Amino acid sequence: MDTEIRPCSSLSIFLLFLLFSSLNIQHCGATDSVSLGQALSANQTIVSKEGNFELGFFTPGNSRNYYIGIWYKTIPVQTVIWVANRATPISNTSSAELKISKDGKLVLLNSSKIPVWSSSSTPSSSNSTVAVLLDNGNLIIRNGSNTTIWQSFDHPTDTVMPGGWLGLNKITGEHQTITSWENPENPAPGPFTESMDPDGANQFVLLWNDSEIYWRSGLWNGQYYPSIPGTTSSTILKFTFINNERRNCAMYTILDSSFITRTVIDSSGLLRQWFWVQSTQEWQTFFTEPLAQCDVYSLCGAFGICDQQSSKICRCSYGFEPASMKEREFNVWSSGCVRKTSLRCGNKSSAGGEGDRFLEMTNMRLPANPQNLTLGSARDCEQFCLNNCSCNAYAYVTGCSIWTGDLRNLEQLYDADSGGGTLYLRLAASDFPGSTSSHKLVISLSVIGGILGILCVLVGVIWAFQRRTRIWMAKQVESNLIRFTYGDLQHVTKNFSERLGTGGFGSVFKGTLIDSTEVAVKKLEGLRQGEKQFRTEVRTLAVIQHVNVVRLRGFCSKGSKRLLVYEYMSGGSLDSHLFRNNSTVLDWKMRYQIILGIARGLAYLHEKCRECIIHCDVKPDNVLLDRDFRAKVADFGMAKLIGRDFSTVLTTMRGTVGYLAPEWISGLPITSKVDVYSFGMMLFELISGKRNTAESADGSKIFYPYLAATKVIEGDIFSLLDNRLNGAADIEEVTRVCRVACWCIQESEAHRPTMGQVVQILEGVLEVRMPPLPRALQLLMQDQSQSCDRLSSNECKDPLDQSLAVSVKL
Ligand SMILES: *[C@@H]1O[C@H](CO)[C@@H](O)[C@H](O)[C@H]1NC(C)=O
Ligand SMILES: *[C@@H]1O[C@H](CO)[C@@H](O)[C@H](O)[C@H]1NC(C)=O
Ligand SMILES: *[C@@H]1O[C@H](CO)[C@@H](O)[C@H](O)[C@H]1NC(C)=O
Ligand SMILES: *[C@@H]1O[C@H](CO)[C@@H](O)[C@H](O)[C@H]1NC(C)=O
Ligand SMILES: *[C@@H]1O[C@H](CO)[C@@H](O)[C@H](O)[C@H]1NC(C)=O
Ligand SMILES: *[C@@H]1O[C@H](CO)[C@@H](O)[C@H](O)[C@H]1NC(C)=O
Ligand SMILES: *[C@@H]1O[C@H](CO)[C@@H](O)[C@H](O)[C@H]1NC(C)=O
Ligand SMILES: *[C@@H]1O[C@H](CO)[C@@H](O)[C@H](O)[C@H]1NC(C)=O
Ligand SMILES: *[C@@H]1O[C@H](CO)[C@@H](O)[C@H](O)[C@H]1NC(C)=O
Ligand SMILES: *[C@@H]1O[C@H](CO)[C@@H](O)[C@H](O)[C@H]1NC(C)=O
Repeated sequence: MDTEIRPCSSLSIFLLFLLFSSLNIQHCGATDSVSLGQALSANQTIVSKEGNFELGFFTPGNSRNYYIGIWYKTIPVQTVIWVANRATPISNTSSAELKISKDGKLVLLNSSKIPVWSSSSTPSSSNSTVAVLLDNGNLIIRNGSNTTIWQSFDHPTDTVMPGGWLGLNKITGEHQTITSWENPENPAPGPFTESMDPDGANQFVLLWNDSEIYWRSGLWNGQYYPSIPGTTSSTILKFTFINNERRNCAMYTILDSSFITRTVIDSSGLLRQWFWVQSTQEWQTFFTEPLAQCDVYSLCGAFGICDQQSSKICRCSYGFEPASMKEREFNVWSSGCVRKTSLRCGNKSSAGGEGDRFLEMTNMRLPANPQNLTLGSARDCEQFCLNNCSCNAYAYVTGCSIWTGDLRNLEQLYDADSGGGTLYLRLAASDFPGSTSSHKLVISLSVIGGILGILCVLVGVIWAFQRRTRIWMAKQVESNLIRFTYGDLQHVTKNFSERLGTGGFGSVFKGTLIDSTEVAVKKLEGLRQGEKQFRTEVRTLAVIQHVNVVRLRGFCSKGSKRLLVYEYMSGGSLDSHLFRNNSTVLDWKMRYQIILGIARGLAYLHEKCRECIIHCDVKPDNVLLDRDFRAKVADFGMAKLIGRDFSTVLTTMRGTVGYLAPEWISGLPITSKVDVYSFGMMLFELISGKRNTAESADGSKIFYPYLAATKVIEGDIFSLLDNRLNGAADIEEVTRVCRVACWCIQESEAHRPTMGQVVQILEGVLEVRMPPLPRALQLLMQDQSQSCDRLSSNECKDPLDQSLAVSVKL
């Protein structure tokens, strides 16, 4: 029996005491305990001695159920950290009560006086057993000899408090874990759990249904868990691992007692460290794991598809519908999707003689745990699956794999090389579009659709004929590069009437193709390349396809005219969102997604496509946003198109200079690291929401990256953040981005990370060390302070020119 139950370390518990004792809160008549003979009814609560926590009945959200819980008394937003009867709610509190039973247990009786929950404490016959709520949020039961015989910290629900713990109690043999609420209105255990590694390794893990591990903290190395961000350098939290004769456990302590913080596994499977921000009166996340939400196993439930790129992260497979709409309102998807039409299962006598068919789903993360069969061909594999009623899908990658039962953990992938495959999902044939077995309505609809279709085709053909353009024909070759005539483009852009912008290489106009696809048409200027070479280059660019890269749709090359036709991005360019006062402020979450998108796009250009492409002109003006604010890199491949004159154009171009790596000026060879440098410079602008060069109050120009780099090194990250965000940002993410930015703008290209590494850092896969202060910036600042005396103030004002000058000297 666990006679001397204490948390692994009692160090932190008392920090809260210290903090709150100074607040001097008065509680008239409130008590902190329930003793034998007393009962807590629905209209009563107990409050810890210093007033930090309160215990009583509560109903979560709009639920009609009652639970016994503990919440912060000092925080206006009711935040429940522990629930007693999480799976056995009470529907009527009229005479429900919480009391100490005769055998010394804490019990909850419903209105029929039937116990619905009791503490699992050892029976104690003492008549002075008492349950006390402590100021760290721990509810303890003490027996007559003042020994703690039970505590809520040993039986957490979904929250680990500072001083609480997670792991194996060697004395009782119990495994302490936390399990998500089913949804924000129902504390019943959901599918996600945080526990110490079931295999006994010194790490903790996140699991789905106690079986599938989807995230690991990394092995305790004596100082930190490698995968928990911030644990190496945080001055606020310290994670520890303890293995002694009583416990094998993970816990954390707060080093700065002014922080109110908690670790929660939430209903969507994410482990979050929250902290309370006094100034804004709201909870903010310190870190979230796993970083990619789609890594949460079975996040979207059975037959749900996770899509990291979509604003709605979960959707149902074709032919399926959500099992619970209510759940979706809470952004919880565990109940997954159900078939709209049940499978025929080879029952050909029904529904016009059609059985089941397979829907091809390309580029999917295949579900776990397939049954592998030794069948020679995809055809055999399909037939085998069709013949077995419980087979729901098959794939033929290296061999035949089939899946029976629910398909889980599906994810829509985008990169061709991210390990996806084609999944064939079994559906009732009548669910297929254009199925012959459909009902009359569908038939009549398709007849109408057909007629309309024919009409459209006719109109289209006539139109195309009249215009004598090749647009229509070109559209037929979907996904191929369309070759336009100049006349086509004049027509498409209404004679170049709607200008979207003007860049270094020409102006961009909006246009509409005949099928009403919107496009952006770029008229290139200053090109000296021959037509043949231009076409060759354009063709190589057309092969480049990635969600974070603007797609080239077509081109025109006639005489001296060179035009490129791109997909149209309705969100406009990043600079218009960042720097214009009248635009809505991009929140931090969006910025982080944008940063990650740009990084992925550039990494693709550098590393993933057949021919490595250096963008050479990375800046906010060349990042476009689509309707959902997804970032796409634009204007890539200009160096190839422009040819030898490119660097001259670039270095003389206004507005680009602040993003240029020192190599451009020093004459060193240009590698993909120049893009890394520009990307780093751009990150500072994304963080601050300001151009890197700004006028300071006294009219002199200040160069923000230097200030920023200094602040990053001093650890004063939040002061860098765009004022308009009002501090609403994930510190961990801001820290990560600041550090990456600092590494990216190092003078020596060898010190800069590759874009692939940047992506990994931003995804939280790689750790990022504290960066050194970029040397040129350092020199620049010294130079400036010295040279200011010598030079006229005019010459001293633009540190940009100096930073370049300094670089040349290096
Ligand atoms: C609480 O409710 C009980 C009955 O449910 C009643 O007897 C008691 O007076 C109430 N106490 C307060 C403080 O309202
Ligand atoms: C709760 O129970 C009491 C007595 O058992 C009853 O009078 C009351 O109507 C019930 N309330 C609800 C909401 O069912
Ligand atoms: C009290 O709990 C028992 C056992 O769960 C149940 O049978 C009974 O209906 C409950 N009474 C009320 C009023 O909910
Ligand atoms: C507790 O029990 C002891 C005997 O078991 C008795 O003498 C004492 O009076 C009781 N105290 C109270 C407060 O009921
Ligand atoms: C309290 O619990 C401890 C440990 O279980 C036990 O040694 C002690 O006798 C208990 N005291 C009473 C009064 O039951
Ligand atoms: C019981 O123990 C607590 C701390 O463990 C102590 O503060 C308190 O004074 C003790 N009470 C009695 C009656 O011994
Ligand atoms: C969860 O795990 C249990 C036991 O391992 C298993 O019986 C059950 O089928 C699993 N649930 C699902 C939805 O797979
Ligand atoms: C096959 O379909 C027919 C008609 O819908 C139905 O009557 C029959 O029960 C089905 N047989 C099986 C095995 O499902
Ligand atoms: C089935 O095949 C997949 C990949 O082809 C492999 O990862 C998996 O381990 C195999 N499963 C079994 C049970 O052999
Ligand atoms: C269908 O496949 C499952 C799993 O491989 C197997 O257990 C079952 O016996 C098969 N049923 C038929 C009718 O072949």
